[in-house]
Amino acid sequence: MSQNILFADFSLSGPTLQGGMKIANQAKGNTRQAAEFIQNAVGGVLFSIETVQSYPHDHMKTIQIAQEELDENARPALKALPELWNDYDIIYLGYPNWWNTFPMAVATFVESLDWSGKTIIPFCTNEGSGLGASIRDLKRLAPKAKILDGVSFTGHQVASCEKKIVRWAKEALCCAHHIPFHPHQLIPFQNGQSPYESNSHNRIIKDSFRKEEGDMYEFRSEHK
Ligand SMILES: Cc1cc2nc3c(=O)[nH]c(=O)nc-3n(C[C@H](O)[C@H](O)[C@H](O)COP(=O)(O)O)c2cc1C
Repeated sequence: MSQNILFADFSLSGPTLQGGMKIANQAKGNTRQAAEFIQNAVGGVLFSIETVQSYPHDHMKTIQIAQEELDENARPALKALPELWNDYDIIYLGYPNWWNTFPMAVATFVESLDWSGKTIIPFCTNEGSGLGASIRDLKRLAPKAKILDGVSFTGHQVASCEKKIVRWAKEALCCAHHIPFHPHQLIPFQNGQSPYESNSHNRIIKDSFRKEEGDMYEFRSEHK
């Protein structure tokens, strides 16, 4: 059952802006870390969106290049696209917020693929700007996809928030399959069984759960 889920994420390791606008060196990007937490819990295949031209180790130079790419509406060339694209119907799409939207490499990725019949579950890491305009931009680039509400995670908190990230991801998966979800009846992913298979009698998630979890992530249903 998990074969139909793909995790496509763009993420940079190395120097990254952290809380308080400090630059810290990290072995693994925040978005990739979140993707791995989710994939570990729900199954599926990981795919890194990587550019042919790598970004410089100097963080400030990367910030400048990213701004130029955004201003030019650039489409950086990618090293590869996912194999067996037709096999997937749910794509968790992860990216950092760069200048209030996704990196232009994500635009290249989205425009290079046929999204007919696909459901996108977007998640974004950032240091304060949330999802920015990324969902609006995604809808423009992939009009044929069904795009679920995106979620925003604070980048430097990702490593310590596996449980909450996984809870969101499982709920999103239920939404993708139109299966009502109850957070207290989560069924762990085991032996190839997807977490929602036994959840068909669950009730709709309560507002109280959203409030309880709201400090870690935010749901956005309106995108300007
Ligand atoms: C080029 C660049 C631009 C960024 N722009 C923003 C921004 O506009 N708003 C924000 O909150 N964070 C911004 N950030 C911070 C990243 O969104 C944040 O550190 C993210 O978690 C990085 O993800 P990664 O480690 O997966 O690459 C920017 C980072 C970079 C490198």
